[in-house]
Amino acid sequence: MAESLADYEPLARDVLPAAVYDFVAGGSGLEQTVGLNRAAFFAITLTPRILTGLAKPNPSWMVLGTRWELPIAVAPMAYQKLLHPEGELHLAAAASRAGIPYTISTLSSVPLEKIAGVAPSWFQLYWLRDRRVVTSLVERAVDAGCGALMVTVDVPVMGRRLRDIRNQFALPPDIAPENLVDKVTEAHDAVPGVSAVAAHTASVFEPAVSWRDLEWLRSLCPIPLVIKGILDPRDARRAVEIGADGVVVSNHGGRQLDGAIASIDALGPVVDAVGKDCVVLLDSGVRSGLDVLKAVASGASGVLVGRPLLWALAVDAVDEALALLGREVRDAMLLAGCADLAAVRELSVGRATWPIWS
Ligand code: FNR
Repeated sequence: MAESLADYEPLARDVLPAAVYDFVAGGSGLEQTVGLNRAAFFAITLTPRILTGLAKPNPSWMVLGTRWELPIAVAPMAYQKLLHPEGELHLAAAASRAGIPYTISTLSSVPLEKIAGVAPSWFQLYWLRDRRVVTSLVERAVDAGCGALMVTVDVPVMGRRLRDIRNQFALPPDIAPENLVDKVTEAHDAVPGVSAVAAHTASVFEPAVSWRDLEWLRSLCPIPLVIKGILDPRDARRAVEIGADGVVVSNHGGRQLDGAIASIDALGPVVDAVGKDCVVLLDSGVRSGLDVLKAVASGASGVLVGRPLLWALAVDAVDEALALLGREVRDAMLLAGCADLAAVRELSVGRATWPIWS
């Protein structure tokens, strides 16, 4: 039984192969941004309201045309069979029971149609070298009933994940990117300086994607389009101009540009830049219901949660983890005197001025 989401990481570490633990936990380079993501959340303070006569807060969330139980979605994360024999199916079913959206990764280890069959889902798209595959993935996601397309734009190449390089990390033979035609990751043997997963990414991902490509994608995509991996307000403004319905303020959990700004520090300027009609999601470093509140109070419409749910998946505790997260959100809302998310958005957000340890 866990008292906080942080409890799952050591439990997962005990049961996972060391290289899989490192693949999930790791960031790029010296993992400066992994640390910054947490430190930045620590530094944010909320000023609670009192005597609001409130007994039961309502954290439900209306986004992209659907109402959900919490302002939380499962972040797209590749290869979930590394953590659980049923992989994505297990986590997606739990998300569905918890009433939150599940985001299917392009690199899921179960075909997207099967996952969309067990849970209301969004589909995350990586830009692949073969445009026909991009088109076909969009069509498959739409046909499978996915409620939104989330295109990830911060992976021209995979960040240098030193743990994976040291471990020569490669997928086991029974796990593959099932949505792709080129599933043969074993063919990309680990070589010094490049892990096998990074070599596979380099062979199938298109590095030179531009706004012009996103305009093409917008014209192709009949469902809401969300752009994931935006940190600069100028890019956020451009996203709105090309007709995106939302952005995800994200540094990919510190796995891409090491030294990138913490997502929560990038949030405010992005919110100011996009205006009211654009959904602004945030990920990278969300570890508790309190963090969810801090993000929403800072202007996010909602958050994506990444690694903590993979740790819970590894120890077969995803229902418990999502229930815990929901309880934490409700507790924090009650303690802050917020009846709903609109009230959370009215909270006064500050910054601790004395040294912070995370
Ligand atoms: C990811 N992330 C990711 N993002 C994406 O757009 N497509 C993907 O396939 C993956 N795969 C992936 C695998 C693993 C193991 C991790 C840890 C992360 C990034 C993910 O969506 C999200 O941006 C971060 O995980 C959020 O940070 P936290 O919550 O893990 O700190």
